[in-house]
Amino acid sequence: MAEPVERNLGLDLVRVTETAAMGAARWMGRGDKEAADQAAVDGMRAHLATLAIDGVVVIGEGEKDNAPMLFNGEKVGSGEGMPVDVAVDPVDGTTLTAHGMPGAIAVIALAAGHGTMYTPGSLVYMDKIAVGPEAAGTIDLEAPVEHNLQQVAKAKGEDIEDLRAVILDRPRNQRYIDAVRKAGARIRLIRDGDVAGSIATAREKTDIDILLGIGGSPEAVLSAAALKCMGGEIQCRLWPRDHAERKLAEFEELDLDRVLGTDELVSSDNVFFAATGVTGGEYLKGVDFYGGGASTHSVIMRSKTGSIRYMDAFHDLNKLRLIASDVLD
Ligand code: FBP
Repeated sequence: MAEPVERNLGLDLVRVTETAAMGAARWMGRGDKEAADQAAVDGMRAHLATLAIDGVVVIGEGEKDNAPMLFNGEKVGSGEGMPVDVAVDPVDGTTLTAHGMPGAIAVIALAAGHGTMYTPGSLVYMDKIAVGPEAAGTIDLEAPVEHNLQQVAKAKGEDIEDLRAVILDRPRNQRYIDAVRKAGARIRLIRDGDVAGSIATAREKTDIDILLGIGGSPEAVLSAAALKCMGGEIQCRLWPRDHAERKLAEFEELDLDRVLGTDELVSSDNVFFAATGVTGGEYLKGVDFYGGGASTHSVIMRSKTGSIRYMDAFHDLNKLRLIASDVLD
């Protein structure tokens, strides 16, 4: 007898990111990133409670920005259903949202089984390299940048000059910027949002071939979840900012030398990922409000089947408000 078809939790997850994105988008351009984040967290939490999962938040919100939490260890969902680790970034790009700039997204990932997502402890940054499916298996975080660019160029049948790297525009990433330029490749510097940057390496019809540089640890795990669904690869290593963080890592028994691959960041082979645009960007359209309603644009991915769906949704906010106290839709 054929096995019963397992439910795609991603289709439930997208309602979580839609709600988060609509909450945050109300704060677009108002200069208050904490309020935008709070609104997204509230939306996420309310919706997560309706999911039939036995969820534990392992990548939560707020440690870096003292933002309101979906805190690490918090149990989410109905408590019945698939046991899952949960990683959230209610807004990846809080500053982008506060400034009304493009590229902010609401993100969530689930991995079947408890203990299947890496927890970076108190260390907020990781050194990262990510590529799409064509170059997966060819990169090495510990190798020089030029070597990795050569590998990617070879895998894609291109010249280094044709490649484009995406790098977070931060002083700490200057050595990557210099190395890519020296090797002859081009760069897109981004103000924020390296989850979307990692995804861009694996999407069709983008001109991004590789992500390099130091960015947030939570974003590394979320990127791994997405790349696992898309067949890409990410490698990361914890990056302590100073001596105090080195001591903290020692205390928390975190290995600062270890390079973590996609499967170590997310070990489950049953992963669900969803994201919704908050402010319109190259990847996802942002939330658009109009008299009594809102439109959202999202992506839903699942590792087991490799499905990637894009979803446009129109929300009647008056009806949503009426049922919000009962079951959110
Ligand atoms: P927030 O929206 O949570 O501020 O994160 C945005 C972001 O750009 C991430 O995409 C990235 O990984 C991280 O911040 C980098 O951290 P920092 O801004 O401290 O350099």
